[in-house]
Amino acid sequence: MKNFEADILHQVEDILNIGIALSMEKDHNRLLEMIVSEARRITNADAGTLYLRDGDFLVFKITQNETLQSFQGGSDNPINLPPVPMRLENVSSYVALRNESVNIPDVYSAEGFDFSGPKNYDKITGYRTVSMLVIPLENHEGDVIGVLQLINATDENKHPIPFSSDYEKVISSLASQAAISLTNQQLIEDIEQLFNSFVEVMAAAIDSRTPYNANHTRRVALLSGALAAVIDAEEQGCWAEVGFDETRTNQLVMSAWLHDIGKIATPLEVMNKCSRIERHLELIMQRLDYIMQKWRSEYLEKKLEMISYGNLYQEDLEALEANWAEQQLLIEQSRALIIRADNPATFVDGEIQQQLQQVAARRYVDEYGQEQPWLTEAELINLCVTKGTLTEEERKIMEDHVQVTQRMLEKIPFTNKLKDVPFFAGIHHEHLDGKGYPLGLKGDDIPLEGRILALTDVFDALTAADRPYKKALPIDQSLKILGFMVKDGELDGDLLDLFIRHRVWEMIESDQT
Ligand SMILES: [Fe+2]
Ligand SMILES: [Fe+2]
Repeated sequence: MKNFEADILHQVEDILNIGIALSMEKDHNRLLEMIVSEARRITNADAGTLYLRDGDFLVFKITQNETLQSFQGGSDNPINLPPVPMRLENVSSYVALRNESVNIPDVYSAEGFDFSGPKNYDKITGYRTVSMLVIPLENHEGDVIGVLQLINATDENKHPIPFSSDYEKVISSLASQAAISLTNQQLIEDIEQLFNSFVEVMAAAIDSRTPYNANHTRRVALLSGALAAVIDAEEQGCWAEVGFDETRTNQLVMSAWLHDIGKIATPLEVMNKCSRIERHLELIMQRLDYIMQKWRSEYLEKKLEMISYGNLYQEDLEALEANWAEQQLLIEQSRALIIRADNPATFVDGEIQQQLQQVAARRYVDEYGQEQPWLTEAELINLCVTKGTLTEEERKIMEDHVQVTQRMLEKIPFTNKLKDVPFFAGIHHEHLDGKGYPLGLKGDDIPLEGRILALTDVFDALTAADRPYKKALPIDQSLKILGFMVKDGELDGDLLDLFIRHRVWEMIESDQT
């Protein structure tokens, strides 16, 4: 009796330990292997097969046969056997369909099932299938997700014997724990996949807000992942000790996918501003036309007056003509100046700014009799932007996207492995010299992930037609600019060296859409 109790206790302990081990195993293939080998160990079974259900089929996942020394399945050694259709005459399918165990002492004398499969197998291999214990893998929702088939329980002399009915309960208990672990694993994978697809869709939506660089986020994610792999493989120099395992890389790539998500809140007129005053240019041109027309009528009226009243003095007429010529010239020069200043390629220096101020200071009387400036204050501010198209205020709005990114991401309950995503994504515009934004982080305060994102982000902006008015630069010119940014203390020079040495941009070429 004591022995029996000890046995039971041992079995319960065994099952508990296996349950813990199963729930802790994160690798899908190892989990499947563990289910078969543990069940075989408990029952002294010589062989075992694990099937997982896929619709109307049972798919072979693991086969183990001690006598034949055949171990198949898992990631390294996939099984090429065709899936088993769900028919009641097949014992494994029966177990799956009926959700009940089957214990067969001798397959060759058993009736009710079609055992041509195992018999054929025996014929080919010289094996002898005797006993069989087939157990359904039922998850917490009562669904059979797979079948565990154990073959040939053995005695101490390794002779095949029937499976003791005591084992049915034990293996059923193991099978249900295994089913829960497998279902959990599947659920986690499903959630990860769902989240990843959601992130990709979001990124595509953000990118589509600007038609100029529709693959920006995707390219930054691919470049960052490729650069991380290069760092991880590097065995020399300052990178020898730096590793990027799967978890670290996943977090970096996720940060890349989400780095510009804050652009969802950036007004389109700022994000896609393609010249300094855009449609206002037409308004100003119409205004100048109006002024010109007014001056022209005044000139013609005066001329007519002179001629009709007969007090035509040559010098008066000449003065009138000269004034009119001057007025026309002034309008034309103003027009040319404004068109030039509107062009984003123009560097609006102090001299141009002064000329613009002179134009803006001029007044005319509109059709309502109101005195108006030639250029409004807002038009003058926009035209006086030295470089690019954005005013100081618009640049700040543009830069705000990083803080919005961080604020949005902080609301997402990332798992522990992705907990730094909001921080990494929010520091992709920081510069090593502390002059970046939004935090002005300096040197070592910027983690490697932040430096990688900063580098790949600028590289992509340079090599793509990033702004409406900007052409994509060739690689060599882009790398030169990145080199200047390193010299200016903005980007990490060691990282750029590695990026160039391994030509990381070529690694992602086949992955781009
Ligand atoms: Fe950004
Ligand atoms: Fe970006």
